[in-house]
Amino acid sequence: MTRSIGVGLGERAYEVVVGQGLLDDAGLRMAPLLKRRRTAVVSDETVWALHGARLTASLKAAGIAVMPVVVPPGEQTKSFTGLESLLDRLLALELDRGDLITAFGGGVVGDLAGFAAAIYKRGIGFIQIPTTLLAQVDSSVGGKTAIDTPRGKNLVGAFHQPRLVLADLDVLATLPEREMRAGYAEVIKYGFLGDFAFFEWLEANGPAVLAREPQALSRAVARSIEMKAEIVAEDETEQGRRALLNLGHTFGHALEAETGYGEALLHGEAVAAGQALAFRFSAAQGLCSSQDATRASAAMAATGLPTRLSDVSATPFDAERLVAHMGQDKKAEGGRLTFILARALGEAFVAKDVDAGAVRTFLRQEGAV
Ligand code: NAD
Ligand code: GLY
Repeated sequence: MTRSIGVGLGERAYEVVVGQGLLDDAGLRMAPLLKRRRTAVVSDETVWALHGARLTASLKAAGIAVMPVVVPPGEQTKSFTGLESLLDRLLALELDRGDLITAFGGGVVGDLAGFAAAIYKRGIGFIQIPTTLLAQVDSSVGGKTAIDTPRGKNLVGAFHQPRLVLADLDVLATLPEREMRAGYAEVIKYGFLGDFAFFEWLEANGPAVLAREPQALSRAVARSIEMKAEIVAEDETEQGRRALLNLGHTFGHALEAETGYGEALLHGEAVAAGQALAFRFSAAQGLCSSQDATRASAAMAATGLPTRLSDVSATPFDAERLVAHMGQDKKAEGGRLTFILARALGEAFVAKDVDAGAVRTFLRQEGAV
């Protein structure tokens, strides 16, 4: 079954289509958005080798000329160098402002191509065709685009909404198990932050989602997108409620920074450990019950996701260094930090005044030194 979920942003509203076999009619869905029947398809080598031919055939059948721009896979492509090279290749194709870029890949390709679209000739439209679970349920929706700098992740970017998102569940068939699990951390996030019934459903159906059983996968992806679309429509530029989508990200970001943003710890894995820590920290602060914190952890651990610092690294983390990563250092030293915490499963909230000392103590209780 194909579902269409609207992101209600007035003149910039768009549809996120979720279903099987969408690559095969991508051409028909994209054609009405194109002034000229051509598009630059930005993809990574892995995705292009696996699925490029199917997308190309579909676009060609709709009379759309495909200009592939294939980049190396991996986070390092989301850099100034990667951006410069991509922009140069787009300029060489002589795209004009009436053309659209198509981002065909995971979050790396989506963030990079989306940011290139935001600044190419002062802004050009783009379409997202996300190919990882993480990209389908999170990064392709909502218009956050960015590259990393040596000072940190996603520090240079723009809000630039896509014109259309096509989330084809079939492409997930080739996604490695570990990437699937990492994306699942972002799926369960929606249950944690605002939908207890969805969380309970995932407790029972998580294995089916990870096994890519079509009905379970479709429900999980569609419900996640529905929640994200609703939050983005209400708070596009993260002045308030959108921050809830960062549940687990403050702890997770610190773990990623310490492990080098790479294969040692994938973003979704860091988010999983971060969510478990956020729930246990909430319980330690008397904000939520320890039963809820245990249940949150258990639901992720059951799928093989990390939930403890010791799951992430055998060498203990340094609590001081972790806290320093949790905001600008000055802010951390000043003693107050912003976290997304929970009152219960399905009830997250923004806590703006968290004591850095309490976080440090908690991390030591969790095994940091
Ligand atoms: P990714 O794009 O690096 O993809 C992970 C790996 O899977 C890559 O090696 C890729 O080549 C491969 N791959 C992609 N699709 C595949 C498929 N169908 N079959 C086989 N292999 C496939 O990583 P990701 O997890 O998709 O995205 C992570 C990035 O997303 C990070 O840079 C993160 O900062 C960003 N992100 C952005 C937002 C946002 O709102 N913009 C939200 C969350 C994460
Ligand atoms: N991934 C967090 C957000 O889109 O706001």
